[in-house]
Amino acid sequence: MEQPRRVEHQLTDKGYVPVYTTNVVDQPWNDYSAVEHTTWATLFERQMALLPGRACDEFFDGLARLQMNAQAIPRFADLNPILKAATGWELIAVEGLLPELAFFEHLANRRFPVTWWIRTPEQIDYISEPDLFHDLFGHVPLLLLPVFADYMQAYGEGGLKAARYGNEPLTELTRLYWYTVEFGLMNTPQGLRIYGSGIVSSKGESLYSLESAAPNRIGFDLKRVMRTRYRIDTYQKTYFVIDSFDQLFRATVDPDFGPIYYELKGASAFPAGDVQDQDRVFQRGSGEGWPADGDV
Ligand code: PHE
Ligand code: CO
Repeated sequence: MEQPRRVEHQLTDKGYVPVYTTNVVDQPWNDYSAVEHTTWATLFERQMALLPGRACDEFFDGLARLQMNAQAIPRFADLNPILKAATGWELIAVEGLLPELAFFEHLANRRFPVTWWIRTPEQIDYISEPDLFHDLFGHVPLLLLPVFADYMQAYGEGGLKAARYGNEPLTELTRLYWYTVEFGLMNTPQGLRIYGSGIVSSKGESLYSLESAAPNRIGFDLKRVMRTRYRIDTYQKTYFVIDSFDQLFRATVDPDFGPIYYELKGASAFPAGDVQDQDRVFQRGSGEGWPADGDV
């Protein structure tokens, strides 16, 4: 078996460009170095110290059932039977970012792609693309929750459908994924909690998303989110808050997006940090430290 590649962004004369790969590989578990297991342990322990009282209960529940711990990088082969039994999902090891359609196709079939490699010690605090820690620690615990597992599969199917409608629908659907799966917050009786994987896997953003005065925190609204640009190189300027996973499911999975894509055709997009009149505002951000440009 060939050693899987570590596919990362590349620096060219046009700056950093993402590189995509569709290869599905075997997780080369025996080849992880002591340094790599230590990187996992450091990240795991740091987030576990930070997340109680900040991440949602469902996240901790999933983590406990998967028996992830700081001892070693988990083996996908150990997690898969647990995940399969809970919701029928399965992890597959990949070399890096997947092209959109390949990603949707996996999700639609309840396969979750996890990057096999982990960041280097120099990248502990910041890495600009998903690695094993983000994919596994950030995404997989919620895949044990039936409503979220169903949401993710429906999203994959919705992605394949959006791609047939064209580029604008794809962009709108990508924003939805970004502001829910990756950077979502939830309103609970105990206060705001994190469920977005991009937040739970980041020390800085776990604190910033909930406690900083800078970002907006706004109630989730489907069309609002679909029109909102985002940041890929800084903390988010705006976080959208759901009331429950059931609300998210009803607002996104049930409706046919066909008419919604039609309605939003040609509508202007909102800058990442703007607050709109109809918004249900949990916090109006101070905007401190925000770059003026660079929304995606
Ligand atoms: N209901 C959406 C559609 O008809 C698909 C979707 C499901 C989108 C789940 C997001 C999340 O296209
Ligand atoms: Co992610």
